[in-house]
Amino acid sequence: MRALLVDHSAPSGLRLDTTGDPDPTPTQAVIQVAATSLNFGEIEVLAHMPEGWIPGWEAAGIVSVPAADGSGPPAGTRVVTLGESGGWAELRAVDTSSMAAAPPDVDLGELSTIPVAATSALRALRRVGSLLGKRIMVTGASGGVGAFAVQLARLGGAHVVASTSSPSAVDQLRALGAHEVISSPDRYSGFVDGVIDCVGGPQLVAAFDKLAAGGTLVSVGHTTGEPEVFPLGALLVDDGRRDRSLITFHQIDGTPLPPDFAWLSEQLAAQNLHTTIGWRGGWDRYGEAVQAMRTRRLRGKAVLEIAD
Ligand SMILES: NC(=O)c1ccc[n+]([C@@H]2O[C@H](COP(=O)([O-])OP(=O)(O)OC[C@H]3O[C@@H](n4cnc5c(N)ncnc54)[C@H](OP(=O)(O)O)[C@@H]3O)[C@@H](O)[C@H]2O)c1
Repeated sequence: MRALLVDHSAPSGLRLDTTGDPDPTPTQAVIQVAATSLNFGEIEVLAHMPEGWIPGWEAAGIVSVPAADGSGPPAGTRVVTLGESGGWAELRAVDTSSMAAAPPDVDLGELSTIPVAATSALRALRRVGSLLGKRIMVTGASGGVGAFAVQLARLGGAHVVASTSSPSAVDQLRALGAHEVISSPDRYSGFVDGVIDCVGGPQLVAAFDKLAAGGTLVSVGHTTGEPEVFPLGALLVDDGRRDRSLITFHQIDGTPLPPDFAWLSEQLAAQNLHTTIGWRGGWDRYGEAVQAMRTRRLRGKAVLEIAD
């Protein structure tokens, strides 16, 4: 098969080349990958991976060989998949506990954005608790996770405050369901019940300061790479705002992934949820996609189409 392989001599750190087909374990199905979407985190780790390693966390495609143990969907099923590697290839072996069947009418490129960005947004919002009638702030709202969090919070019945550093994203965020769009958390004049923070650093500190009593901030991302420094008094309850909490988060939390993948895919099919794709192209243009991610020229997801 062909795959994008780590190549430290290449400017992008990758080359498109031929390599051996995957050798699945009994609990793994083999997927013919149609599309994969890129995440900043997996681009960052390329420099530390061995020569010939195949990256790729999330991918959508068609089951070509079902799992030998009988778990998972049969051959020919459209699926979304998640793994620690191997998604940037024509064929990928994936454990059946990390895949779900997808509805027939949804584009596989859009489906490839479900396993990391959409699933993280869903699981982070669950950590806040019931959303009905609550005020939820999302920072880094125009990013991959943020755009899904805005939509899912709205679907869950929240009043959504989207915080974005991109003035050109304001209209799009309103169209996705944000009731209010602000340029940074410290510009918000009220209090919120929950925060999905995709940025970290000073934005996390400012967003924490906007929590009402009992409110929860879920720390999803650390995009800025800056430290979180709380000023003296930030944790006091002089104004009655007791029981505020900050939760660290990882999308892999021990609960089953397939039900979340399936539900999110159904929401895409029903057009209750939309994927924001900022770059899309054939996988021979991988260098362009990686560069766009590295230089932060993207809004939303980058999707590589894996050609036969
Ligand atoms: N813990 C987990 O399990 C988990 C899962 C998925 C992702 N993550 C992490 O969550 C973060 C967001 O992921 P993502 O896929 O949404 O990333 P992304 O698409 O790159 O979006 C990040 C957003 O952060 C905002 N931002 C603010 N300051 C920034 C800066 N200095 N540089 C770049 N962006 C800045 C931008 O949105 P605005 O322009 O709207 O401000 C940007 O679109 C990443 O750190 C990722 O590694 C964690």
